Amino acid sequence: MKIIKVKDKQEGSKVAFEIIEEAMQANNHSLHLGLATGSTPEPLYQEMIESPLDFSKSVGINLDEYVGLKANHPQSYHHYMEEKLFSKKSFKETFLPDGMQEEDIATKEYDEVLEKYPIDIQILGIGTNGHIGFNEPGTSFDSTTHKVALTQETIEANQRFFETKGEVPKEAYTMGIKSILQADKIILMAYGKEKAEAVALSLEGPVTEEVPASALQKHGNVTCILDEEAAEKLNNL
Ligand code: GLP
Repeated sequence: MKIIKVKDKQEGSKVAFEIIEEAMQANNHSLHLGLATGSTPEPLYQEMIESPLDFSKSVGINLDEYVGLKANHPQSYHHYMEEKLFSKKSFKETFLPDGMQEEDIATKEYDEVLEKYPIDIQILGIGTNGHIGFNEPGTSFDSTTHKVALTQETIEANQRFFETKGEVPKEAYTMGIKSILQADKIILMAYGKEKAEAVALSLEGPVTEEVPASALQKHGNVTCILDEEAAEKLNNL
């Protein structure tokens, strides 16, 4: 696992962008790019938008979506991606799980997408409890796309985006840990002191389903981009 310490998320986003740029060149600009939501990747998407890189032969595949939110709901991940990236940079195709679809259909359809478009690079943020995508603590490392009940911690962390707590969805569809680990290369970004504990447990703690991101230790090609605060609880830097 490669750890790159950066000054702030702007610098981190430039580092992540350069990795994507290199992979675009290596893949004849036809990349299967695994995408994430949250505040962490936002400046990376800005870098992509401002760059001359042409993604029109590339495919965007997102990690997750809330259950029960229509694509045009302002807090849906469909809407987030449209607003932050897809409306400003065109891709050949883009995919997110269908939050309005029944569980068995939504998850099966998404696994088929992942089979058709194996991910070259997966972008990841991390939850304060070590979740990746919406894989909460306790998720099997063998999981493919599935429905999850969000933990109280995650519901509270997501509340800032909704007017009331009652509106925050309690369930989501997410790519599983096994699906994430199938990516050729993974870039995990984490910024801020509230991520420090999760980062240290995931990168240096035991590999356990109780810390979903610790599964990344089993993958041979992970780059972690961390700011000072997110890296502060690591021992071996
Ligand atoms: C959500 C997303 C994750 C993301 C996490 C952290 O739970 N499903 O993919 O990594 O939030 O969000 P942020 O980057 O805003 O801290």
